[in-house]
Amino acid sequence: MDSFRLSIFDLFGAIIPGIPMLILIISLFDKSPTNILNLIERTENLSLSTSLLALLFAYLIGFSTQYLSYEVFKQLVPLWGKKRTKCFPISFGKRGEEVSLIREKAPENYKVLNTFFAHRTMCYNGFFSLSLFGIGISISNFVKGGLSADVLGLTFISLIFSFILLRRAVSFHEWSHDLITDSTFIIKKIKKKLTDSPIYLDYASTTPLDPRVFEAMRPYFMEDYGNAASNTHTYGERASIAVKESRKIIADTIHAIPEEIHFTSGATEAINLALKGAFLNYGHQKPHIITVQTEHKAVLDTCAYLEEIGADVTYLSVNSDGLVDIEQLESSIRKDTLLVSIMYANNETGVLHDIQRIGKICKSNQVLFFTDATQAFGKIPLNVLEQSIDMLCFSAHKIYGPKGVGGLYVKKGIKLTPQIHGGGHEFGLRSGTLNVPGIVGLAKAIQLCQSEMEEVSTRLEKIRDDFEEEMEKAGKIKVNGKNAPRLPHFSNFQLLNEEAESFILRNRNKLAVAQGSACNSALIQPSHVLKAMGLSDQDAENSIRISWGNGSNSKTLEKSEIEILF
Ligand SMILES: Cc1ncc(COP(=O)(O)O)c(C=O)c1O
Repeated sequence: MDSFRLSIFDLFGAIIPGIPMLILIISLFDKSPTNILNLIERTENLSLSTSLLALLFAYLIGFSTQYLSYEVFKQLVPLWGKKRTKCFPISFGKRGEEVSLIREKAPENYKVLNTFFAHRTMCYNGFFSLSLFGIGISISNFVKGGLSADVLGLTFISLIFSFILLRRAVSFHEWSHDLITDSTFIIKKIKKKLTDSPIYLDYASTTPLDPRVFEAMRPYFMEDYGNAASNTHTYGERASIAVKESRKIIADTIHAIPEEIHFTSGATEAINLALKGAFLNYGHQKPHIITVQTEHKAVLDTCAYLEEIGADVTYLSVNSDGLVDIEQLESSIRKDTLLVSIMYANNETGVLHDIQRIGKICKSNQVLFFTDATQAFGKIPLNVLEQSIDMLCFSAHKIYGPKGVGGLYVKKGIKLTPQIHGGGHEFGLRSGTLNVPGIVGLAKAIQLCQSEMEEVSTRLEKIRDDFEEEMEKAGKIKVNGKNAPRLPHFSNFQLLNEEAESFILRNRNKLAVAQGSACNSALIQPSHVLKAMGLSDQDAENSIRISWGNGSNSKTLEKSEIEILF
């Protein structure tokens, strides 16, 4: 294809324009005025080799005049081209960068552009040779004293064709400018779209991986990729050591011992293991479970399943701030109560339950206490000893760690029935080859969160409080759970002047926030958490959750507030 294009270009860009110029040169050497019939006759009598030689000369002449014709065309374009085209120099010098961008990012457009360039060259070279031939032949005949009517006619026809070719060349020139302009506009627009992501304010849903976490994980993908259960070689040993160290780091942060930490695929699995595992082990004697209406679906759905297999579940209500009534909890505990499952921090509102008091009550009533700490882990200090927590779950992707890894703390002495069998990993509680890079990432992430906790929570709390204050003052929002202790980076509020759905749609390209909880987003229903707090269906549907994170600063607030909300 390329060679074909080259031969067409050679034919129309050099050989054909070269022929009139060759004829003109030959006629200049003739002493007598040029006679067209004579000229045609002479051409007819040429031998094959002379014809080929003539074509070669035509090619060389046509090719070498390209540079000259280019200079002439350059001077003519401003007189004829559109206003826009006139502004650009004909030598695409100034547009060279754009042309390179097109070559790199839009090769198809670059091909078309090249075709336009080639056609432009063929046309302006044709224009140049025909006009030179037409004018030259008349002048030479005039000088030789024999300007005949047929030569004048030939000049006239040549000039008409040369004008047509000039017009064509200008058109190709304009089209190439348009193509460059449009292509670079589109390329830049696409680039901008890719880089101009909406402001991320949904850190409660998930967080980006911290690069330091990624670096810690990296060797366990590529070099130390051994199976932590392989104890016959150093690959396995290195992986096993990494898991052991990670277990210790995690245990230390919640004041547990390493053997009490069990790795899972995330918090949902850990919740299933805690609730089903406890019920299957102890439920025949104590089938009663207490939980709260505002728990995460992972807890509520597991409880619903346990009800199907014989559990008796009490769902405690909450007040308008999302807090459980501790007295109601205490009075709900029965002789056959096996377990209380109350989350540390709510995933929609950030509301923090009084875990210390709840733990104490459970302990004194000899009831197991499980807390879903997925949102609190790494955000506020946790202490399973002080808070009398028997089981606690966590997840790496909420703390700038990888997705698909989490864990369950189970106090020593508590027996759970395993939910996944096959190999007896994780002290017999959860079988399956360990996700070594994930576990290392989880440990690194919690380590970083612990060390930066104070600075991060102070910064985010200020951003959150300033935001809520301004928005409330402007009469735009009503904060849900405002009077309860909350995680510092959470704000859940009702929009007072606009429907949440239209707000989210309107700002889809500018702002990433959650309506209700992302974990439930497959089900488009008013949030069960907000409804339990007494909000009407409409108020719950009109509520939005903003959750700030490590990437947020006071500018994020400024941007989101001013550009989007006001
Ligand atoms: C409170 C709470 N529990 C459990 C989960 C489920 O966690 P994972 O995604 O690790 O399964 C989430 C996730 O949003 C959560 O916020």
